[in-house]
This record gives sequence, structure tokens and C-alpha cells, in this order.
Amino acid sequence: WAIYAPYIKAINDLKAERNAVILGHNYMTPEIYHGISDFGGDSLQLAIKATEVEADVIVQCGVHFMAETSKILSPEKTVLMPDMEAGCSLAESITAEGIEEMRRRYPGAPVVSYVNTTAEVKAASDICCTSSNAAQIVAAMDSDTVIMTPDQYLAQNVARDVPQKNVVWWEGSCIVHEQYRPQDLRDFREWNPGTRLIAHPECPPEVVAEADFSGSTSGIIKYVTDEKPEKALLITECSMASNIADALPEVDFVGPCNMCPYMKKITLEKVLFALDTMTGQIEVNTEVAAKARLSVQRMIDLSR
Ligand code: 13P
Ligand code: SF4
Repeated sequence: WAIYAPYIKAINDLKAERNAVILGHNYMTPEIYHGISDFGGDSLQLAIKATEVEADVIVQCGVHFMAETSKILSPEKTVLMPDMEAGCSLAESITAEGIEEMRRRYPGAPVVSYVNTTAEVKAASDICCTSSNAAQIVAAMDSDTVIMTPDQYLAQNVARDVPQKNVVWWEGSCIVHEQYRPQDLRDFREWNPGTRLIAHPECPPEVVAEADFSGSTSGIIKYVTDEKPEKALLITECSMASNIADALPEVDFVGPCNMCPYMKKITLEKVLFALDTMTGQIEVNTEVAAKARLSVQRMIDLSR
């Protein structure tokens, strides 16, 4: 932490000067998550926070779609993205044309798009969802068939939990969570008896089926905090365990984990540069933002 201290101090000073808040996703490294973030959370919590904070500037420590969501919800604020290249394999897997293609394939079916999408895709969809409310949103749709984009695995996990709906999906996937195999979990259980296996719902359903619990990043934190298992394997991004290990000394967090190369593009140096120079400002076309806001706001209203 000694090497981070000057950056943390400089960022926190600049934050006060610029009336800025930093929203840090649960996958940020500990020096960002604990050192400079005013609020940490999962995608839904950060989206809601963006509507609540009283600040002139939001610095999004996460990936591009999260910053875009903040801008869509708070157009009057300046939203800074410390690295514009911090994308997401899911957001890159579909365009607004893809949504139209799904609508042609399943006429009349509502489109539920994961927040891990561009503003254009959100604008072309009926409603958004995150991993913490996907089943609730799909169950609330007034149609037997529901289109979910772009995460095929989240959709398949929701289809299992909401059997009354005919869930159809786009073929996108998360490069971090698609790597896990059910056999990895079975082997791990055999070799490390007593370890609680906790998987993010972006993992394939066969992987989730082998786990003891599945939930959004904040759902995972809540589960481990409430249950305090002796040993836990978080089947998700590596920073998750690093960020909660200090607060839970009674839990032994065991590996392996997978790294998200997009999330890891965000560093203290880049945050400092963005705040200092006010560069990396997110802009969303006004018309697109207005339509996308409806999809995100519908999700927030249904999740309350
Ligand atoms: P959460 O909404 O669970 O934080 O997920 C975001 C994400 O990108 C996970 O890969
Ligand atoms: Fe996208 Fe997966 Fe990285 Fe989350 S972990 S930002 S879904 S690539």
C-alpha cells in the first residue's frame, strides 16, 4: 500500500476539488475499491447510485458500459472513464441490429437486455436487467416468450429459475466466466472437501449446477458475509476475494480465479490522470440516451 499512498492522496484531494465521486465495481483491485471509491457495488447498485449522488463529476471505476449507464441516468453530470478501452466481451457481442434480428425471429416477444450492453442496444431493447434482478425482470414480462440478450449463460440460468417463461437468447458470453467447466468444480470438491463453491450466473448453467450458491457480485459478497464458510472458492473475477478477505478473516478464500482484462485496465494512475485533466468524458447521443434511459429506468423501477 505504501506505493499507492501518494496516488490515493492526490486522487482524494482532486475529488474534493472537483466535487467528484468515484463509483467502484466489485471487480476493481483493492487499492481502487478500498483506497479511492466512495461507493462499491455490483452493476445494479452502481447504476442506482449514479442517480442518487450529488456531485458534478462521476468517475466510473469499472468498464465502459457502466460509465455509459451512469451518463444515461445522470446526463447533467460529467462522467469520466479512466480508460476508454475498458470494454466487455458481452457488450461487444451485440449491436442494435442484433436486437432487431431477434425481434424478427420472435415477433411480439419483449427484449430484456443485460446492462452489459452499449447505449444503442439498451435503446433498442424494452428493458434492462443485471445479474441480481434478471429472473425477477423476466418473470414480470407480460409474454410467454422472452428474448434475453446478449449473455446466453445468464439467459439459460434464468430459464431454469423461471420455468413458466420460454426464454430465448443471443449467443454472447463473458470471457471470464465461460472458461469454467463443471468438471473443474467436481474435481475441486473432491480434492478440497468442505469448500463452499460460489458462482456468478455468467457461468454456464452446468457450472452453476455444481455450485452451492450463485448470485451477482454483491449477492456473492452477502452470501459469504452471512454464511462465513470456513473455505470459499469464488468462481468469478479475482478481485472479488481480494476485496472482501480482510473483512472476513475467518474465511479462507481459495483459488483459482479468472482475471477480467477489461476491468484490470483501470489503474490509480489512469484515475488520477482523468480527474486531473478531466479527460475520458462519456458522451451519449441525446436521442439514444433518452430511449436507453427508459430501458434502464424500467429495470430500476421493477427492482425496487
Ligand atoms: P454484477 O452485476 O454481478 O456486478 O456483474 C457485472 C459483471 O460484469 C460481471 O462480470
Ligand atoms: Fe464483461 Fe465478463 Fe469482464 Fe464482466 S467479467 S466486464 S461480463 S468481460
